[in-house]
Amino acid sequence: MKTSLTKLMSAMGCALAFTLLPGVPAQAQTATTVAPAKKAQVVILATGGTIAGAGASAANSATYQAAKVPVDKLLASVPELGNVANVRGEQVFQIASESFTNEHLVKLAKRVAALAKQPDVDGIVVTHGTDTLEETAYFLTLTVHTSKPIVVVGSMRPGTALSADGALNLYNAVATAAAPAAAGKGVLVTMNDEILSGRDVAKTINIRPDAFKSPWGDLGMVVEGQTYWFRAPVKRHTVNSEFDIEQIETLPAVEIVYGSGNASATAYQAYANAGAKALIHAGTGNGSVSGAVVPALRELRAKGIQIIRSSRVTGGGFVIRNAEQPDDQYDWVVAHDLNPQKARILAALALTKTNDAKSIQRIFLEY
Ligand code: DGL
Repeated sequence: MKTSLTKLMSAMGCALAFTLLPGVPAQAQTATTVAPAKKAQVVILATGGTIAGAGASAANSATYQAAKVPVDKLLASVPELGNVANVRGEQVFQIASESFTNEHLVKLAKRVAALAKQPDVDGIVVTHGTDTLEETAYFLTLTVHTSKPIVVVGSMRPGTALSADGALNLYNAVATAAAPAAAGKGVLVTMNDEILSGRDVAKTINIRPDAFKSPWGDLGMVVEGQTYWFRAPVKRHTVNSEFDIEQIETLPAVEIVYGSGNASATAYQAYANAGAKALIHAGTGNGSVSGAVVPALRELRAKGIQIIRSSRVTGGGFVIRNAEQPDDQYDWVVAHDLNPQKARILAALALTKTNDAKSIQRIFLEY
């Protein structure tokens, strides 16, 4: 039975977690009479990054060491977390995320999936370096079969800096992971008060707190511990994904080569010789390929290596099949709207299921 308060809150698209007092007619209850809801149990998995960083002085907002502060100290530095959830922390890694390997991805996702199965866990937060945060968020949304909120968060400044952003980013992440309305929306990223889709989000600025953007816009905002929602993802994720981390132990090698006008085939051939099963072309414009490179890519495709056209242009739009290159004729794949680093993640997972280019293309259009 929805009270007028509940209707108001849900109409505002935000969630106020509370329970109605038993034995009192719902209509007679208001926000002041209902018992506060049982606090959500949120687990924080720490992996390192700037949010765990430390600089020599408060003026060091960009010069600092990442991955220094342990998870218990991180949680203790934001006592307000206890106002929005019951939290506990685990130190999964303590690394700068530019060094986040496929092995790190698999280990983290398995831990997230195991925790998500626990009835005493309502939501999970992953603290992470921002450099590869977008890849990890995408990998988790593709492979962890749960509808419980999973929120990946980082910071652009270390906690020692003036106007550090980590504490509020972490508070917002825990508030979002504790919010029932956050369930079923895929893996989320909270940065700079915004709630973004783990699928779409990318680091678009390298030294400002407003670094994370999605070309398709935010899902919502989190303000003073409340989440406000304005849209939901439409691509397949989590429980609707054909990829399951419980059935994955390793990822095939997929490499990225950056396109330019003065391109050569050397890097593609070197990666292929080193065992890459797919090559992501970070093409100019709409995934264009230099004429100096096309013959080599066709040869590599003939040897069974997947060729996937992404774009170095990442502000919006998507690579269109058979536009800049005859993909049907060459049996190549287009990455659709995925940037090269996200295309690498999806290609690696696709290759755990198939080596057929048409099947891989279907996967790129669905996830
Ligand atoms: N070394 C970078 C990383 O760990 C620092 C950037 C950050 O975390 O904001 O991703």
